[in-house]
Parts: sequence; C-alpha cells; structure tokens
Amino acid sequence: MTSSSQANNQDSSASTGGNPDFKHNLNMSEFVQVDRKVFFAAAERNKGVILDQLKPYLEKARLVLEVGSGSGQHTHHFSEAFPNVTFQPTEYDVNLLPSIEDYSRDLNQVGHHIKTPLELDATKQEHWLQVLKSGQEEQQKTGKDTSEEGKGCYDLVMTTNVFHISPWIVSQSIIQGAGQVLKKGGFFVAYGPFKRNGVFSTETNREFDNTLRGRNPSWGVRDLEEIEAVAKNEAGMILSRVVDMPSNNYMVFFEKQ
Ligand SMILES: C[S@@+](CC[C@H](N)C(=O)[O-])C[C@H]1O[C@@H](n2cnc3c(N)ncnc32)[C@H](O)[C@@H]1O
Repeated sequence: MTSSSQANNQDSSASTGGNPDFKHNLNMSEFVQVDRKVFFAAAERNKGVILDQLKPYLEKARLVLEVGSGSGQHTHHFSEAFPNVTFQPTEYDVNLLPSIEDYSRDLNQVGHHIKTPLELDATKQEHWLQVLKSGQEEQQKTGKDTSEEGKGCYDLVMTTNVFHISPWIVSQSIIQGAGQVLKKGGFFVAYGPFKRNGVFSTETNREFDNTLRGRNPSWGVRDLEEIEAVAKNEAGMILSRVVDMPSNNYMVFFEKQ
C-alpha cells in the first residue's frame, strides 16, 4: 500500500463551508493505492449523493460515458446499482487506467457491464471519435443500435470534479464532445463547484478558487452561465436542471436537442 500527497484529486464538495475535510483537501492529499487500485477519499464521500441524483437518468439509460473517471470508484459504484447499464469509463491520465480496470473487473466477473477504459484527452478530436466508435460497436453488439451512423449513441455523459481542475479549454471540449456523442434527448451531467452569473456562492468557494489558481493559473471555479452558453451554442444542449449539492456544489443537467 502506498499513500501520496501528490494525488491530483480534489473534492470540492469537502472544500467549502467549514467542512472538517477542508484543509486536508486543499492539500489534495487524500489518496491511497492498493496494488493497481487507487482510492480517492473524495470520490468515496460524494459517490452516494451523486448516485441519488443520477438514479432517474440511469433507470432510463443503456449506455453511459464517464469523462475523467479518475480512480474508477464512481463507475464502480454506479454500476453496482445499475448492473444492466453499460458504462464506458475514460481517463486523461493513462496511469489511472489500470485502477479503473481493476475496479471494473470485480463487477464484470459477476455479470456487470463496464467497458475497458479509454484514454480521453477531451481536447483531442481523435479520442472522441474512439469514444463514439466504442459506443456504436456496443450498440451493434447488443442489437440495440438506435443511433444513426456517425451520430451520438450515449444516453448519458457524466463528469465529476473536472471542470475546475483543468484549463477552461477542457471544459469547453468536454461540453462539445458530449454534444457530439450523446443521442438526441440524452443528458450531460456535471458535478462540482460553480459560480452563478460570475458570483461565488460562498466566501470559501472564492478562497478555493484562489487556491486552485495558485496551484495552476489555468484552473478555477467555472461560471455556470458561461458553461450554459457553450452547451447551447456549441453543443446543441439546453440546461434542464440545477441541483444544489452538499458543501456548495451543484449538479447541472443539460439535454441534447
Ligand atoms: C480531481 S480529478 C476527478 C476524478 C474523478 N472524476 C473523481 O471525481 O474522483 C480531475 C480529473 O480531471 C480530468 N482531466 C484533466 N484534464 C483533462 C483533459 N484534458 N481531458 C479530459 N479529462 C481531463 C482527469 O481525467 C482527472 O481525472
């Protein structure tokens, strides 16, 4: 077992509002690895509340894409609850792919459907084409291909705690990519801290934004209205729901038109 203070994992859900994990998370230190499986305490903390909000969407979904799967804990948790849904995990950091594979193997051995994780740098169009191809092959395999050739095939695209811990171009690219791979009527869901109309929801979120930018000037808490504009103008997706989550986070749902 190893533990590290270098892990690039930040649970913004625990970073605000007097949460006892606040200081700890600012150090981005909650990281444990057992063999190939990485464990992010943050993902463990927020996976339950995220699943609660995803349930109505997962009940109707067959094929789900996760962008920035991290350790693989989220996909594992969601698949545990929805064994018949096929999940396609992805990750930018290829060093995390073995961890995602190991979490998936446990469930796939007992009949769940988590596909081999794909490398996805959201800014690379060739990676999105691979994601699309994988989804379309899945649909052909199961004989449930309702997508038109070259068109979106995923029912749901989700991403958690990615927008603020990557450059703005990554947020834009994820939204554009989601618009490309989602079916008409499918949903894109993002979890994390957001500003509303340029305003921080709390002083601690402003401090968190400062800390993020101190670590990397291209990171930072994004503005929901700017995200909404990209979704509408560049991805054909309309904001359908904003859910207040614990510790000043949000879950935002967009519907592909
Ligand atoms: C804090 S981790 C979140 C991991 C996981 N979603 C979770 O909540 O535990 C930040 C994530 O940002 C993602 N990320 C950073 N740059 C990216 C890029 N260019 N394309 C796609 N994802 C990126 C990484 O994949 C990384 O997993």
